[in-house]
Amino acid sequence: MNIDFKKLADEFGTPLYIYDLEFLRKRYKELKNAFEGSKSLVCYAVKANSNLSIINTFAQEGSGADCVSIGEVKRALLAGIKPYKIIFSGVGKSDEEIKEALELKILMINVESEEELKRVEAVAKELAIEARISIRVNPNVDPKTHPYISTGLHENKFGVDIDMAKRLYIYAKNSEYLDPVGIHFHIGSQLTRLEPIAEAAQIIADLVRSLKAINVDIKFFDVGGGLGVVYDDEVLINTQEYANAIKSAIKGLDLTIVCEPGRFLTANGGYLLTKVLYEKKNGNKRFTIVDAAMNDLVRPSLYKAYHKIELVQPKEGELSPTDIVGPICESGDFLGKNVLMPKLESGDLLVVKSAGAYGFTMASNYNTRPRACEVACENGECRVIRKRETFDDLIAAERLYLKG
Ligand code: LLP
Repeated sequence: MNIDFKKLADEFGTPLYIYDLEFLRKRYKELKNAFEGSKSLVCYAVKANSNLSIINTFAQEGSGADCVSIGEVKRALLAGIKPYKIIFSGVGKSDEEIKEALELKILMINVESEEELKRVEAVAKELAIEARISIRVNPNVDPKTHPYISTGLHENKFGVDIDMAKRLYIYAKNSEYLDPVGIHFHIGSQLTRLEPIAEAAQIIADLVRSLKAINVDIKFFDVGGGLGVVYDDEVLINTQEYANAIKSAIKGLDLTIVCEPGRFLTANGGYLLTKVLYEKKNGNKRFTIVDAAMNDLVRPSLYKAYHKIELVQPKEGELSPTDIVGPICESGDFLGKNVLMPKLESGDLLVVKSAGAYGFTMASNYNTRPRACEVACENGECRVIRKRETFDDLIAAERLYLKG
């Protein structure tokens, strides 16, 4: 939909996160439809954007949820995702989290190590129930993405190797308290090449076949998330080819395909709107200081990630490169470097694009900056889905330590 950024800035102030719900629904449908002809479950990766209204939008479409903390599980449930569509993943879960997840009767707990499998078994035994689990297998393929968001190599902390996975499945099958229903892999994020995913899917499907031969009957084939999006000029994986590669890897097996997209569903449907405070020059270097900062959107600082930044109302004037920076006391506090802009003035509005994933969820209160307001738009109407934090919100949990 067409978003009137100026109007939103006047109404809700800046910095402001804006989400286009129509776009989110369209993306969900595109992916879900690509799996047509196979049993499939799209589990939205809540970590990408965990606002209740965003999760609820996907819940309305029939989505499940991929969660990495019990907090995310509770968010998903509160937002209307059905328990039997929720997966609980992550490299380290506390006993309390495991217990709560089992009591909430979610679809499965995704286990990432032998130690964790034993913990899940012990907790299930205490509750006298059988825990549905999947095992995250590390297929040791190079996803060809940024090293910080690459996860499918043995050098990364995630999952277990194929031999260990086999041992764990046999252990789980023989346990009274474990029901190994799924298998899982996730090789990285912002993937723009299909081959590594297809290769991983083949490797894991072969593992499913060899497990079947020893009577371990897997039902859910979870291919993780990771589908890349356009930030700049990336050439993307075709969604239908992605689905086809997975379908073809599991040919002959009776499996439900599960996928866990986060960025694919939300990134390009989100914007961070910010206002220019002023410009300055240090020698020849031009800076545009804006009211959003790394505490609002950390991706440029943390990953040197590129986000397109545009002027909301085009201006006349010669273009020259400027670093768009926030007010935080860190040299790494920038949203864009060498962005071509005409001369800007206080009050000009800039929109940072592709900010719908890992934007607000990675925001912090660094420098005692309240987190931004979030609004969602659909059918020409925009509503607040998280109000701007206040100074009182920021200090609410703090107590003065006074002696005597
Ligand atoms: N499933 C698992 C097991 C994951 O670890 C992740 C992301 C996803 C699904 C969703 O991945 P997606 O479809 O969104 O690529 N903060 C980083 C991204 C970290 C991704 C962590 N895991 C960023 O801003 O690029």
